[in-house]
Amino acid sequence: MANVTVIGAQWGDEGKGKIVDWLASRANVVVRFQGGHNAGHTLVVGDTTYKLSLLPSGIVTGTLSLIGNGVVLDPWALRDEITRLEGQGVSIGPDNFGIADNCPLILPLHRELDSLREAAAGKGKIGTTGRGIGPAYEDKVGRRAIRVCDLAHLETLDPQLDRLFAHHDALRAGFDQPPLDRAELLEQLRQIAPFVQQFAQPVWKRLRDAKRDGARILFEGAQGVLLDVDHGTYPFVTSSNTVSGTVASGSGMGPNAAGFVLGIVKAYTTRVGSGPFPTELEDETGELLGRRGHEFGTVTARKRRCGWFDAVIVRQSCAISGVTGIALTKLDVLDGFETIRICTGYRLNGEIIDYLPSNAAAQAAVEPVYEEMAGWSETTAGARSWAELPAQAVKYIRRIEELIECPVASVSTSPERDDTILVRDPFAD
Ligand code: GDP
Ligand code: IMO
Ligand code: MG
Repeated sequence: MANVTVIGAQWGDEGKGKIVDWLASRANVVVRFQGGHNAGHTLVVGDTTYKLSLLPSGIVTGTLSLIGNGVVLDPWALRDEITRLEGQGVSIGPDNFGIADNCPLILPLHRELDSLREAAAGKGKIGTTGRGIGPAYEDKVGRRAIRVCDLAHLETLDPQLDRLFAHHDALRAGFDQPPLDRAELLEQLRQIAPFVQQFAQPVWKRLRDAKRDGARILFEGAQGVLLDVDHGTYPFVTSSNTVSGTVASGSGMGPNAAGFVLGIVKAYTTRVGSGPFPTELEDETGELLGRRGHEFGTVTARKRRCGWFDAVIVRQSCAISGVTGIALTKLDVLDGFETIRICTGYRLNGEIIDYLPSNAAAQAAVEPVYEEMAGWSETTAGARSWAELPAQAVKYIRRIEELIECPVASVSTSPERDDTILVRDPFAD
């Protein structure tokens, strides 16, 4: 099976978009299988930068791009994104883009609830992207969601709207908000329906046919394993499963579909939003990493928190997601650091542990145990072959491999698509 699954192995923003775009020209299909427009994937091709949130990154190379049922879809955000990408010369139509008809919709009421909750939580907020992701997944699991396929049958939607509104009006009353307006929502859905319907289809069937034809499928994960609703730093997580296992349920293929699992790993660590971050640097070094790495969110423009490489969490992510090999990104950001630190374990209650515990208070209490290495003064920026890397940078990569117990399959040295060193071709496995 020549499929490849790309997932983030930290707290998101590892450079998944760049790597998916780099691999996309050799895939026949690119599929998103979870998350929504909370994702922000940046692709740099020559002088052009593309920022994708909902559209699979394969759209830029013209590769067939599909949104699986595991995604929560905001149709208005989708329309805006398509308009923006078309403005950049990307052609998007039913021939190269499809949406699973069993995808749940993110509605304006979800976005509103997301903001109301975050505002009410004050200091205890999750720091969500404010896109309505959590509330939309709650309604999916609560069996009250409106789905893409319902857009063709708005006249039969009343029983489902009864369930949805009963739930939300009660919640809204708690926030002193007026009840929802059914006629207004139906009108909004009526207007957007034709736009979405042109792309709607049973994606599982499309993928079954692609598999029969021997297609190479590239699955594009969003967020990262530490944001997974089960395995992440709960409750400071997103509301979907971000691990590789979600490929099967989120696209409608069997558990063998994932193929080569490529974990995307930043050469240091970042996080946006609240929650534990053992190696966070709230000093000049953290500022420097952020400045050199341009660590500002693609979606919300928030400043990302920065810290040293944490081998504990990446080792854990690789195990949980069955990672075959990693793509190490942003190595160039470490150019010029005199010394570099790697977190190899945590200290908790006087003991050394080699994993991140599940309990939130324990996660907040762990202290990193570091080892220090000499950095390199040469530049790695733009390197496209192993031979161009300084000896100390190679040593850093080898040490990471050892600590995370997973081999490096590629190294990325700039935002540009082709500034990538291939060590092991994931599609060849
Ligand atoms: P994603 O969410 O995982 O797709 O990552 P983002 O696009 O949100 O953030 C990664 C950022 O790093 C983007 O601005 C990329 O253009 C940039 N980037 C990706 N790989 C590299 C790299 O190897 N070096 C540098 N300097 N920037 C990179
Ligand atoms: P990509 O795909 C980084 C974070 C938010 C917040 C938490 C919950 O670009 O790597 P949500 O809106 O999902 O309910 O927010 O998850 N978050 C991300 N952080 N990269 C992302 O996506 C993220 N998507 C969500 O900042 O802490
Ligand atoms: Mg991102």
